Amino acid sequence: MNARTTRTLAAALSLTAALAISGCSSDSGDSGDGKPRMTVSGAYMPQPVNDKMAGAFMVIKNDSKTADKLTGVTSPLSDDLQIHETKDQKMQQVPSMDVPANGELKLERGGNHVMFMGLKNTPTVGDKVTVELHFEKADPVKVELDVKERTYNAQNSTGH
Ligand code: CU
Repeated sequence: MNARTTRTLAAALSLTAALAISGCSSDSGDSGDGKPRMTVSGAYMPQPVNDKMAGAFMVIKNDSKTADKLTGVTSPLSDDLQIHETKDQKMQQVPSMDVPANGELKLERGGNHVMFMGLKNTPTVGDKVTVELHFEKADPVKVELDVKERTYNAQNSTGH
């Protein structure tokens, strides 16, 4: 092996190392351009009583090291979706909600939730309702809500 071959080999090895490092960082949830990426689980809507309003619940997970905010929700089912928090058992609209870095935003019964004001139809159990979540930094995320029985509560299955 001459000196030239050794140098080429070293260059090839350091290139491989660089690729491995960048491969690693894209696994952390950042999409490469520094934007957080959200994953959503357990999204559902209890079957609405009428076409006046409906709630939506889910867990939004931020696996990146960049804190973000849920800033809005849209859906073909309604032109007016609001982000609500519950304080002293009363709900009120807020302009945005934090999704902490390496954390999650829980939208659950009795707490924070998405609220549909005025429905174009009344979905029933087994239907799917599409919503799009909008964030300050992350790209929008499309989510399918499973329409569940009115009494359904995802928390029941986790022992709360
Ligand atoms: Cu509400």
